[in-house]
Formats: sequence, C-alpha cells, structure tokens
Amino acid sequence: MHIHKFEKIWLIFGITTLLVFLSVIGVSAFYLGNQPPSCLATINPEKVDTTAPFDKPGLKKVEGKEWDYELVFVASAFAYNPGQVEVPKGAKVKVIATTKDVIHGFEVAGTNINMMLEPGFISEYVTTFDKAGEYLIVCNEYCGVGHHMMSSKIEVVE
Ligand code: CUA
Repeated sequence: MHIHKFEKIWLIFGITTLLVFLSVIGVSAFYLGNQPPSCLATINPEKVDTTAPFDKPGLKKVEGKEWDYELVFVASAFAYNPGQVEVPKGAKVKVIATTKDVIHGFEVAGTNINMMLEPGFISEYVTTFDKAGEYLIVCNEYCGVGHHMMSSKIEVVE
C-alpha cells in the first residue's frame, strides 16, 4: 500500500504530538506531583462551627509545616467569616475553606486563587502573598439573592 509522503509526515506529527502530551501529563502528575485539587477532605456541613479548624476562622501561625500560617474561612449565605483579615507580606499561607450551606465561590481578585466551596468538602490552597495591598475575595458561584454582596478582604501588610 502506498502512503503519500505528506500523509506520512502528518501521521508522524500526530503520533509524536500525542506522545509528547502524554509524557508531559505523566511527568507532571507522577514526577512533579501535580494533581487536581482533591475532594478527599470532608466535613459534616451541619457541624462546621464546632469542627476544627472552622470553629476559629481567621489567621493562625503554625509550626513545623511547609507553610507559616493557616487562613481559615467559613462561607455561608451571604458572607465569609472572617469578613476581613490581615496577612503579613511574604508569608506562606495555606487557605482552608468550606461552606455551611450551599456552593459558594472563593476567588481572590488579582491572584490565581479561585476555589469552589462545596458543602461537605474542604477546599485548600497554599500560596504566598508577595505584594502588599488589599485583596478582595468574591463569591463567583451564584448562591442566592445576596450573592452579589458576598465578599471579604485580605490585607497584606509589611
Ligand atoms: Cu456565595 Cu455567591
């Protein structure tokens, strides 16, 4: 069977591309450890207020972990707790958040922090705030009549 030269080139190109992409995914997932955010951390949404660390929302200094602080948020219609928080500049922070009722969003405007908060699950993200300033947290999942009023603020201070 005769295969045209261009067709051969195209086939080789297609298969090579596939192999390159599969290798990139493989290296990224199994060597670099990049995994999609897990839904492994669960919580009883009715007992959020009495379950650690959500019984004390806000910023906490931690020792002996890969991050310096834990920043705990509880979302509920239509507010975040805390409504405002100060974070020292340059600190490595693990954001830990959940919701008490319906699905809410957790987007920190101007950063790449953007999580969905689902009832029964804990969303986590480790980040470093390198630039001082005010960062608005907004809900980007429609959650009801007060959706547009739902916000909080992270102040990164020197
Ligand atoms: Cu909470 Cu929209």
